[in-house]
Order: sequence, then C-alpha cells, then structure tokens
Amino acid sequence: MRVVKSPREISRILDRLKRGGRKIGLVPTMGCLHEGHFSLIRRAKKENDKVVVSIFVNPKQFAPKEDYKKYPRDLRRDAVLARRAGCDIIFCPGQADMYPDGYAAYVAVRNLSSRMCGISRPTHFEGVSTVCAKLFNIIRPDTAYFGQKDFQQALIIKRMVEDLNMGFKVKVLPIIRQKSGLAMSSRNKYLKPHEKKNAAVIFQSLMKAKGLIKAGARDASKIKAVMRRMILGRPGIRIDYIAIADPCTLVEKKRIDSNVLIALAVWVGRTRLIDNILVDV
Ligand code: PAJ
Repeated sequence: MRVVKSPREISRILDRLKRGGRKIGLVPTMGCLHEGHFSLIRRAKKENDKVVVSIFVNPKQFAPKEDYKKYPRDLRRDAVLARRAGCDIIFCPGQADMYPDGYAAYVAVRNLSSRMCGISRPTHFEGVSTVCAKLFNIIRPDTAYFGQKDFQQALIIKRMVEDLNMGFKVKVLPIIRQKSGLAMSSRNKYLKPHEKKNAAVIFQSLMKAKGLIKAGARDASKIKAVMRRMILGRPGIRIDYIAIADPCTLVEKKRIDSNVLIALAVWVGRTRLIDNILVDV
C-alpha cells in the first residue's frame, strides 16, 4: 500500500493505472477510521481494481467554534487498518496542498445544503462539496463510496456529481452500528462511558418512530413529539433537530403519505451526533 501526500503525484500514479484499464474506487474520509469506513473500503475493493482512501480533516467544513482542532488524527493506525480492509493507496494531503495561499474557489449545492444540518451548520456543506469536488478532480474515480450515516451529505454529493457532469458513480452504503444501535462515528471517541450509554436512545427513538409509522401513524408532529420525549428522558442530551422529510428533497412533511427520511442531530454533552433511517410507507 502506498501513502501519497501530493495531489500531483497521486494524479500521475492513477493516470498510469487508468491507462492500463484499472477501475478506481474512492472512499473519502477524515480518518480515525472505524467499521463504518471499513465497510465502504471493503465494498470498493470488491467492485474496483484499486481503492484510494483519502484522509484529510477538511478545515473548510468546520465552523470557527467547532471541533477542527481536537478532531482525532492518527495516520499510522489508520494506514494499518485501511490496508487490512483493502485500501491500495492512501491520499493524505496537507492543508497547504489542498488550500494554498490565495485559494478562492467554492462549490455550493443550493437548497439541499440549507436544510436539516444546514440550519445549525450554515457553512458546513459548502466545505464538504468543495473538498469532494477537489478530491474527485484529483483522483477521477470510477466510483466514489459514501455512507448513509451522513444522508444529507451523500445526497448533496450525488446532486453535485450529476449537476456538474462529473460522470462517475456515487454509491451510498448502509449505516454500521454498534451493538447498542449507536451509529459508528469518529466523534463517538469524545463520549464518556455514561454518555455513550445514553446515546443509544438516538437509534431507539428512530426505531420507535418507524414502528409508529408501520402501525399507521401519519402525523409527523406527533411522531416527532414521541421521539423528543424519549430523547429528553435521558440526562445530558439536547436536541438540535428532528426531521421527517422527503428523502429526495429533504423538505419536511406534515403528513406521511410516502416514503420518508427520519433524521436527527442531538448534543450528547459537548458532542454533536447525527443518525437517520428511511421508512417505506
Ligand atoms: P467521515 O466522517 O470520516 O466519513 C467518511 C465516510 O464514511 C462518509 O461517507 C460517511 O458517511 C461514512 N461513514 C461514517 N460513519 C459511518 C457508519 N457508521 N456507517 C457507514 N458509513 C459511515 O464524511 C466525512 O468524513 C467528510 O465529510 C468527507 C466526505 C470525507 C469530506 O471531508
């Protein structure tokens, strides 16, 4: 496995592989790799000849008071684990490789970026779409792999790839969870043991909502009220938002008359966690 820092060098290596007819899968990450990331790498390995995992904690997707500085970084550990999961090349550029002095280009995906997480993180998705556009141009993958864990992010990236004629496939894979139901996340590292235990209520509330819909409930505000009560029943948890929305547009629904996305963001102590499920109606 190779570890490459320079955008120009990785483009050169990959150009050679592509001329030889090799299919390239890309898994963009911010490192601190866990089972969620490994599931993407393993799938990429199955479907491609070479798998590139990018590891870059992207400053442009963090707001000034967010956790950019304390975001966990451990390239040595990540390299060992990525290789084990099937990664062929790690691309780990430095800040100056990605955003040299004078950097000024941004990609905005309207509408989708301003809903749900975009309300409390208004600059976040522009940072995500910008860094992904750069990664896509540097790597030029045949397929890029994302997790449903960040449903809104995956939808925005798909929209960007389609709207800007980037011409490759984007695949979105299921959420990997711990036994308790808590979705795997690099940010789970911040949780104290009692917080981790309480955070299991996030998935429980999603399952409760799904159960209510399957039993015939159709009033979104009533379902959200049940979820809110469950979550606030645990100490130290605050709700950022709970949304029951159209999974294509992310527009919230009052009445559940077709398939829905149920998504939420909560603060467990000082850690912001997100989760979601799709429910067929
Ligand atoms: P990061 O949080 O490291 O996640 C990288 C990829 O792993 C994302 O596509 C995310 O949805 C997926 N992932 C995370 N947890 C998962 C889980 N429990 N199950 C399945 N997939 C999971 O998302 C980012 O990084 C960044 O925003 C990035 C796209 C790299 C741009 O900087």
